[in-house]
Amino acid sequence: MIRSYIRGTGSYLPPSVVSNEDLARLLPTTDEWIRTRTGIEERRFADEGTFCSDLAYEASKAALSDSGVEPSNLDMIIFATLSPDHHFPGSGCYLQAKLSKLGVGTIGCLDVRNQCTGFLYSLSIADAYIRAGIYTNILVVGSEIHSSALDFSEKGRDLAVLFGDGAGAVVLSRYEGDARGIISTELHADGHYAKALYMDIWDISRKPYLSGESISQGDIWPQMDGKSVFKHAINGLIDLCRTTLSRAEYEIDDLKYVIPHQANLRINQAVAERLGLPDSKVLNNIQKYANTTAASIPILLDEAHKLGMLDEGDLLLLLSFGSGFTWASTLLRW
Ligand code: ACO
Repeated sequence: MIRSYIRGTGSYLPPSVVSNEDLARLLPTTDEWIRTRTGIEERRFADEGTFCSDLAYEASKAALSDSGVEPSNLDMIIFATLSPDHHFPGSGCYLQAKLSKLGVGTIGCLDVRNQCTGFLYSLSIADAYIRAGIYTNILVVGSEIHSSALDFSEKGRDLAVLFGDGAGAVVLSRYEGDARGIISTELHADGHYAKALYMDIWDISRKPYLSGESISQGDIWPQMDGKSVFKHAINGLIDLCRTTLSRAEYEIDDLKYVIPHQANLRINQAVAERLGLPDSKVLNNIQKYANTTAASIPILLDEAHKLGMLDEGDLLLLLSFGSGFTWASTLLRW
């Protein structure tokens, strides 16, 4: 049996820490409001002049080093982000150029624009290439710079307090046998909810797509129906956890950890409670980094790995829900 397994992980968080109190000096909010509704205590913001591919480069370098895979032996880069360096070309190309100095060749680069589920969608593509026998080592990266696209006024405060910058990466490699590796993936989307969490800036139906008027009316900021996202995320994640486990013929007790997307601590706690999962089995780090969208799962995975919490063969369930709506799971043996 051929599987793909996570052979190395890496992450990078920009050094500038922005606490809830720091945000409260910029806009009308309080540490208490943010903490009680989301669990977030602080986040990182990248300095002006930093690109999403810069954060991705640091995380990728760390993942390559952890994996022991020579950069010249990478076969492909899959880059998940909603905050690409530029609208085109894809950020994967910028990352490839940066990694070329380590020896990465002119390998294929694919950008995945799936927001919070981008990393799990990317993992599923990498897994398919490896199981098909086409590639052996694929770099899968999630990286975001949110801080340039948040409205720090009263109007945008519901979203501005939720997000942070950061990157996480894994090297996914071929594995022969079934003791380790990805067991199954589930991908879902329901575009009827596209506008529950979206950004209007790039409206290609307008000629031109961007104008002074669209900027002044606030189209450059993300918009969200927070209550709708909250409710759908909890229900979607619970269903996903149950179906993923039952299709693979596992019970909830077989899991070592659930590693969920970090959108809101209350979402993850509600999911755990309704599934009867003890809090100790659901990993969270949103307190330190807020929501880093496509980067949140690989950052969390890297932290757990570096803390020595993961043993070979542990059963892990990665879960995510976000804009689109999209939702996805990956069941794997570490
Ligand atoms: N600080 C202070 N007050 C605020 C803030 C803020 N940052 N933002 C909004 N408010 C105010 C509103 O203006 C409103 O005031 P009003 O009642 O006078 O009109 C009030 O707070 C709304 O409060 P609640 O109804 O209690 O807000 P709620 O409990 O719905 O929490 C939140 C809002 C945290 C955004 C929640 O809906 C949520 O987390 N939704 C999920 C969204 C999410 O996770 N998005 C992330 C991206 S998607 C993903 O990754 C899954």
